Amino acid sequence: MVKVVVCGAAGGIGQPLSLLLKQSDLISHLALYDIVNAAGVAADLSHINTASRVTGHVGKEALAEALQGAHTVVIPAGVPRRPGMTRDDLFKVNASIVRDLAQACADHCPRAFILVISNPVNSTVPIVCEVLKKAKVFDPRRVFGVTTLDVVRSSRFVHEIKPQFEPRSNRITVVGGHSGATIVPLLSQFQQRLSFTPEEIKTLTHRIQYGGDEVVKAKDGAGSATLSMAYAGARFTNALLEASVRGKQGLVESTFVHLGGNPGGEWNARATGLEYFAQDVELGVEGVKNVLALPDLSAEEQALVKTAIGELQGNIKKGVSFVAEAAGAAGPAAKL
Ligand code: NAD
Ligand code: LMR
Repeated sequence: MVKVVVCGAAGGIGQPLSLLLKQSDLISHLALYDIVNAAGVAADLSHINTASRVTGHVGKEALAEALQGAHTVVIPAGVPRRPGMTRDDLFKVNASIVRDLAQACADHCPRAFILVISNPVNSTVPIVCEVLKKAKVFDPRRVFGVTTLDVVRSSRFVHEIKPQFEPRSNRITVVGGHSGATIVPLLSQFQQRLSFTPEEIKTLTHRIQYGGDEVVKAKDGAGSATLSMAYAGARFTNALLEASVRGKQGLVESTFVHLGGNPGGEWNARATGLEYFAQDVELGVEGVKNVLALPDLSAEEQALVKTAIGELQGNIKKGVSFVAEAAGAAGPAAKL
């Protein structure tokens, strides 16, 4: 039985993501959790003629039953940006939403793979890991920040100026994190084949780094990317299921992971000085099979990675401190 839980399933991402996951033959039970409307979304999706069972779970009291027995939990719960906001501005609201969902995972499905979509990913992933560490159930191979949308955008945007670049089958590695300057697409991987000019590299890099802003601006107050994110989230979830359930070898996706304790992670931790970093990861039966080493970077990419590292340090620290401070504030009661 492969149970996949979507937390935030009634939202702009949650609904189309659940629709895409309903197509998967690897999922036998799709559990949709939200604080509102998940029952309706589940009833609707349950009429689709694929084999998986769909259940809806509404409100905090239904969270335990939603998570019980989960193989994978995907988290797009929380508020999206409006024009003029940064992803970091979402921290105030989303940090505690993600922390509480992580705690519930620790309590009810401690071995589940956890895929974090909620922003700011550079801080929410450390929040999840810290909660699991405190609960003594942390396995770094099982927690992922979903940065696949940056990879999807990279392929699409490159195709727009280099039509010979097939966007579906060609994957561009995107390292760093998931916000503005922390998003570093490694376009030099395709330099020989595509002969980018320096101006093309500059324009493409900027567009990939700030692609989220294009959507936020176009939606004009009605949220951020939902449909492309659902597509990207389903792509990552499906890759993880192919590797972990079907045992498919050689599947690689860029994703933001905890480096310590992960195969190949120590090399990246030494190279970046960071505890978390988005990098190409080979997926396996237990989740992370290997964090690949950073490939050779162009001079421009080296400078971009350096800038990203500076910003990531603050983002990561913010997530880690949030959990530590909450534990401190709880005081002696936390020991009961
Ligand atoms: P949305 O407001 O449309 O949906 C969010 C859903 O979360 C809502 O249905 C809401 O009821 C639910 N929710 C709120 N608190 C909850 C809780 N405690 N438990 C369960 N569900 C809860 O927002 P959206 O457009 O779907 O975006 C969701 C998040 O995903 C945002 O933080 C956004 O910034 C982020 N996002 C990330 C990426 C990425 O690349 N990782 C891309 C796009 C959006
Ligand atoms: C994106 O990259 O589209 C998401 O992170 C949403 C956002 O706030 O831009």
